[in-house]
Parts: sequence; C-alpha cells; structure tokens
Amino acid sequence: MDYLDELFGLKDKVALVTGASSGLGSHAAKALAKAGASVALVARREDRLLALAENLSKMGVRALSVPADVTENSQCERIFDETESRLGPVDILLHGAGIAKLRRAENHTREEWDTVMAIDLTAAFELSQIFTNRLLGRGQKSGRIIYLSSVMGLVANSVHRCVSYQAAKHGVHGLTKQLAIEWAKYGITVNAVAPAYFPTEMTIDPATGQIPEEMLKRMEQFTPMGRTGLPEEIETAVVFLASPASTYVTGTVVPVDGGWTAW
Ligand SMILES: NC(=O)c1ccc[n+]([C@@H]2O[C@H](COP(=O)([O-])OP(=O)(O)OC[C@H]3O[C@@H](n4cnc5c(N)ncnc54)[C@H](OP(=O)(O)O)[C@@H]3O)[C@@H](O)[C@H]2O)c1
Repeated sequence: MDYLDELFGLKDKVALVTGASSGLGSHAAKALAKAGASVALVARREDRLLALAENLSKMGVRALSVPADVTENSQCERIFDETESRLGPVDILLHGAGIAKLRRAENHTREEWDTVMAIDLTAAFELSQIFTNRLLGRGQKSGRIIYLSSVMGLVANSVHRCVSYQAAKHGVHGLTKQLAIEWAKYGITVNAVAPAYFPTEMTIDPATGQIPEEMLKRMEQFTPMGRTGLPEEIETAVVFLASPASTYVTGTVVPVDGGWTAW
C-alpha cells in the first residue's frame, strides 16, 4: 500500500450517501467510490441513482441504488437495512440531500420552513441516530458522519433570501458539534463541509442549465476568488473527512468556498 493509499484509501469501507442523484451529493459519492469505498446511493429519483450506480460499477466499485425519501423515518431505517444486506455494515454516512426555498423572511411560509428543516436538518439527525445505534449494536469501534452543509450555516446570505435554509444549515453546524462531543467516545467523527455557490440543480435555471446571470454576478462578487466552485472541488474535503487521514478531526466545519467566509 503506498503512502497516499494509507492516508486516503477507503477499501473495504461502505459509504451511504444521500442526495446522490445530482450535484454535490453525486460528486461526493463518486469521490468516495474512487477512494475505494462501496457506495449506497440514496435519493428519490431512481433513474439517476441507477445510472450513477452503473457508471461506478464499470469502475469496479460496488454501488447500490436505494431510492428513498429521507424525510420518512421508516424509509431511513429501510435505507440502512437494504445497504447492510447488499453491501455490509455502513462505515461512513454522508448526508448530502438538501433543498432551499427562496423567499423573503416576511413572506416565508410555515410549509416552506418545515420542508427545508425536514430534509436539511431533521433527516441529518435521524440518519445519524440510526447509523450510530446500528454501529453500537454490532460493537463497531469507528464511524464517520459527514454533512454537506453550506457557508450559509456560518454567515448570513448576501445573495438570496432563504431564512429557513440559513437556520437549517446553522442547525447542521450545531448538530455537528454536539454529536461530535457525544459520540467521540464511540470512535465516531462528525464533521461538515460548507460549500459556497456551485452550479447544480439547486442554483441553475433549468431552462438554460446556467446560474442566472444577475445571480452569478453577485455570487462572484461575494467570492474572493471571483468564481463559483466546480462540483469536483468538493471531492477532496469529503475524502479527507472519510479517510484515515482525519482520525483526529471532529466537530468541525470545512469551508470549500473560494474564500467566501474569509471576509
Ligand atoms: N449548489 C450549491 O451552491 C450549494 C452550496 C452550499 C451547499 N450546498 C448543499 O449541498 C447539498 C447538495 O446540494 P446540490 O447543490 O447538489 O443540490 P441538488 O443538485 O439540487 O441536489 C439535492 C439532492 O438532494 C436530494 N433530495 C432532496 N430532497 C430529498 C428527499 N426528501 N429525500 C431524498 N433525497 C432528497 C435530491 O434528490 P431527489 O430529488 O432525487 O430526491 C438531490 O440528489 C445540499 O445539502 C445543499 O444545501 C449546495
């Protein structure tokens, strides 16, 4: 085994990735697979998951499509049942599923608030709880939890008005810290990755496939590096937090933001 493999290799590990049907979650899944992990791909759009699973299988990776809605607690249990029976016990949980609802705070509806909280924050907690209880149940001594959070969990949003997303992502960072201290004794690390803006279904206009020009200008203006991220630029932070290289890193948030939070 060479030095980089020793540090970052995930051979024999099983990763469960939510939000794997598009954007940053699918890149995170690919990254973990390229580092050697078997991956369970979770989201609602099965066709997308099957296509990604097929691509990863061609690379010699064990990849499983597990269509599910992560806001349903019973489906979260099923996700783990299916993954464990087909791939083995889960070592790495990455919660990448997320949505944002754009609307000024004074007009934000309760329904929008509840929907965002359910996917971005509550599912993060429920999946983590199931992951940890199963890990403890089988006497496993280590595990990794990684949340795809956002710089919007660290600062207010100068580009969009989306109060529920801000609150949910700040909540994810609180969850990261609290679970990290409660579960350190179990050998479980809990960390978050905080991207700034990336072109994904969350940010592009489906009609053009691009981030609307006016928005893009503002995103670039607020990013010291003057550009949005490339989806593959999320991969190294994810692999680092999942890998043997980060055994002593927990309760932290790693910005991948072109300097967004530096000023
Ligand atoms: N793009 C950015 O600029 C940016 C910046 C900072 C943080 N982030 C964060 O990165 C993460 C991924 O976002 P993205 O940009 O890649 O957006 P995206 O392309 O819209 O992906 C969102 C993912 O979440 C899944 N999802 C949504 N609701 C779900 C549910 N109820 N059950 C299961 N899966 C569900 C979607 O799959 P289905 O629709 O198939 O269920 C999709 O795979 C999110 O947490 C987001 O907050 C993104």
